Amino acid sequence: MKDLLERLTLQEKIGQLIQIAPFFYISDVDKNVFGPLLELGISEEEIFMTGSVLGIKDATEMIEVQKKYLEKSRHKIPLIFMADIIHGYQTIFPVPLAMAASFNEELVRKAARVSSIEAQTAGIHVTFSPMADLTRDPRWGRVVEGFGEDPYLNGVLAASMVKGYQHTGIDKKGNLASCVKHFAGYGLSEAGRDYNTVDISRLNLHQYYLSGYKKALDAGARLVMTSFNLIEGIPATTNKYLLRDLLREEYQFDGVVISDYDSLKETIEHGTSKDEKDAALKGIKAGLDIEMATAAYLRNLPTLVKENKVDVKLIDEAVLRVLELKKDLGLFDDPFKGASVLDEKRLVLSEQHQAVALEVALESAVLLKNDHEALPLNKALKIALVGNYASNKDTIGPWSWHGSPKDNASLDEVFSRYTAHLYVNDTCDIKALDEREMLNSDVIVVAVGEHRRESGEAHSKTNIRLSFEQESFIKALKRFNKKIILVLFNGRPLDLTPVVNEVDAMLETFFLGTKSSEAILMLLYNEANPSGKLPMSFPRSVGQIPVYYNHLNTGRPFKNDGNEYTSFYLDEKNDPLYSFGYGLSYSKFELSNLIIKNTIFNKGETIQLSIDVKNNSDIDGYEVIQVYIRDLVAEVSRPVKELKAFKKVMVKKHEMLRVYFELDDEAFKYVHPNLCYDSDEGDFIIFVGNSSTSVIDQKITMKEGSK
Ligand code: BGC
Repeated sequence: MKDLLERLTLQEKIGQLIQIAPFFYISDVDKNVFGPLLELGISEEEIFMTGSVLGIKDATEMIEVQKKYLEKSRHKIPLIFMADIIHGYQTIFPVPLAMAASFNEELVRKAARVSSIEAQTAGIHVTFSPMADLTRDPRWGRVVEGFGEDPYLNGVLAASMVKGYQHTGIDKKGNLASCVKHFAGYGLSEAGRDYNTVDISRLNLHQYYLSGYKKALDAGARLVMTSFNLIEGIPATTNKYLLRDLLREEYQFDGVVISDYDSLKETIEHGTSKDEKDAALKGIKAGLDIEMATAAYLRNLPTLVKENKVDVKLIDEAVLRVLELKKDLGLFDDPFKGASVLDEKRLVLSEQHQAVALEVALESAVLLKNDHEALPLNKALKIALVGNYASNKDTIGPWSWHGSPKDNASLDEVFSRYTAHLYVNDTCDIKALDEREMLNSDVIVVAVGEHRRESGEAHSKTNIRLSFEQESFIKALKRFNKKIILVLFNGRPLDLTPVVNEVDAMLETFFLGTKSSEAILMLLYNEANPSGKLPMSFPRSVGQIPVYYNHLNTGRPFKNDGNEYTSFYLDEKNDPLYSFGYGLSYSKFELSNLIIKNTIFNKGETIQLSIDVKNNSDIDGYEVIQVYIRDLVAEVSRPVKELKAFKKVMVKKHEMLRVYFELDDEAFKYVHPNLCYDSDEGDFIIFVGNSSTSVIDQKITMKEGSK
């Protein structure tokens, strides 16, 4: 690639560092893109020097853009096509937050695999996924795009996604290169308001927030996207500590770093760049390779080089990384790699892909409540299906650009395959219900929740309850004196306190994607047994936020012993309504007999433990066995519990299974005040259970031993 680099003029080199939308290449420049072009400040000639494209509709558009580009560009260096394939292309999988509830890394990998195969038919080469931002504030709309509040689960699933996308190598047809985002700490946006200030100590950044991105990089992610926020007062996009010291030096990352949309220019609004020229200077010095959707580099780097403010070596390094990526993607051999109208017809939304979507959806719903065995339903029951999701097909969730609700079945359509007695009213208006039909039914299924535009980017909320209308409707249903099953649709943990006692059962589905309705019906009728576990705590009220299971103890932990001067609220409990790792099943599991082989062990030795899981029911079921630790005394305060391992196991009815785990030294390491990551001797508690609150525990001791 070096010889190619040498043939490029400075302007052509910088072009490789610019990413713009597809219409720039194929629209009639004078007529159609005059406005955006003018705004971007680049000429038609420069368009045919740019390096990559953001978003593409389908194979036909990709082929047209690439062809036009190659015709007009001097060196015929193919464009890379990048897009947001977040939880599926057209076969839509559960939103990432829901996929996290599956606690099933293999399923997450399979979802990413199918996403790659489908997206590649449109000639897409890079996906802006996974989002590895740790999320602990449900007001932030982007919690829907991530894997929740726990660093370990987040890291495991982010890595699975990368492996699913990149599979046998990014040079092969059918595989995408993965761009992990948003580096770093974006999930900490203050008060859950998107794009807001982030302020975090370096210790905690390393302790909890970086590991998700790092695991994705260790799994081979080829690109990193910077985040919109500040870290230590400096925007991530121009943050030398993040991009050079950490990514390049410490992690030895040699892939491409791309900004988020407009985030290089936004350093001006942050008040850390004077103007675009200053932003370009800071970006290239910090180690930013590609700028997305703006042209500050193109406009300003040539002058900055002339003025000796930027060493052309920095530009060469960035361009070389982009060219290497193109080479590794196989684009010099086939610039249209993957794009095929025939393959689109053959592969996109294929039966096989939809079967995977159903498989993932079945494990991504969480049964939050099931009193009086209200669930499962049986087919003889007369059903009243009500609420704003009764016949709504829009269950694909945010960030599903290529997907369409048209490809989904609605709940009422699928319900009618299960029962001959179905009354449907898709409002939340108690007066609109047919009184006779309601009284004639045996069970009310109320399907309500957020619209998909209520979560995702720029969709933060201060009130995370169901709407007033939905809550009042649920309360009013009581008068029919029937069992009430609440089926929830939402992109974030909700405050369900106002409705939890109004219903007999609650199934949290988030947004389950293309096969949402089929999965929900199979779960309601016990053709599948719920097995999802919450990846984020559901607060009792918005005032508790942030509330997460892996918090610190404080110096005055609440012990409910009458001592007033402890850490608690006068008007609310400390714990969430539903905690991380929680989720019910139709099976009745009982855990016992925690055995730890080596309760006293030397540093570096592996801990071996086992627990018995008994299924005391007539129904086979999956259970997620979770292993947590607490480091009792350390150089810095450690969380009261931290997930260190989990296994999802099938336990047949009335059978018992012994589940084994091994914890190596990694499980006991933490970041010390000098940022050194290591374990220390001392006492730990091991907790094993089927949620973060329902556990059996035992103390173990690490001795310094021989290193
Ligand atoms: C989002 C990114 C996304 C990018 C490109 C931005 O607004 O923050 O997550 O990948 O747009 O669509």
